[in-house]
Amino acid sequence: MTMQKTFLAVKPNAMKRADAVGIVKILNEKLGAQCVAMKVYTPSKAIAEKHYEALSDKPFFGELIESFTAGPILGMVWQGENVVAKAREVMGATNPADAAEGTIRKLFAKSIGDNAIHGSDTEPGSAQREVEIHFPSADFTPIADPISQAEKLTQAQAA
Ligand code: RTP
Ligand code: MG
Repeated sequence: MTMQKTFLAVKPNAMKRADAVGIVKILNEKLGAQCVAMKVYTPSKAIAEKHYEALSDKPFFGELIESFTAGPILGMVWQGENVVAKAREVMGATNPADAAEGTIRKLFAKSIGDNAIHGSDTEPGSAQREVEIHFPSADFTPIADPISQAEKLTQAQAA
């Protein structure tokens, strides 16, 4: 087992439904990892296109970029043993119709295009690439209480 970082983000539609804190609670309870960076921001089109570059030839790419740039996201880096795969498990299947009970997507996703959370995939290098895209200059200090931090950041964003 090696220490890893993964990039996770509450997507704009789930932010609008005020689901961010509920999602962070599940990550905090089930991941067995530490949150080492968290911020609220609206991804630019350039960032979104770079982030989802591998899907640029898919028919849904335009919609995907539109929805990922539609408003603020809660971007996070979590660090722990095997955290990339662990996060994929806790998130659940891409299509909420296939997501297991208790997973974030089972609880918070509405459809495949509105599936509440992004998480890096387990392809080698993928998570590190996304961490560098979204947090190019973070110092990755453990956040003592990620739930309170998410409350604070999302309240500030709604104010
Ligand atoms: P994500 O990257 O957002 O965490 O999702 P994922 O790994 O589970 O799935 P991926 O294959 O990377 O697809 C990225 C996002 O594209 C949307 N999608 N729509 N209409 C469709 O058939 C379709 N397929 C994928 C989903 O919102 C998915 O999260
Ligand atoms: Mg993906």
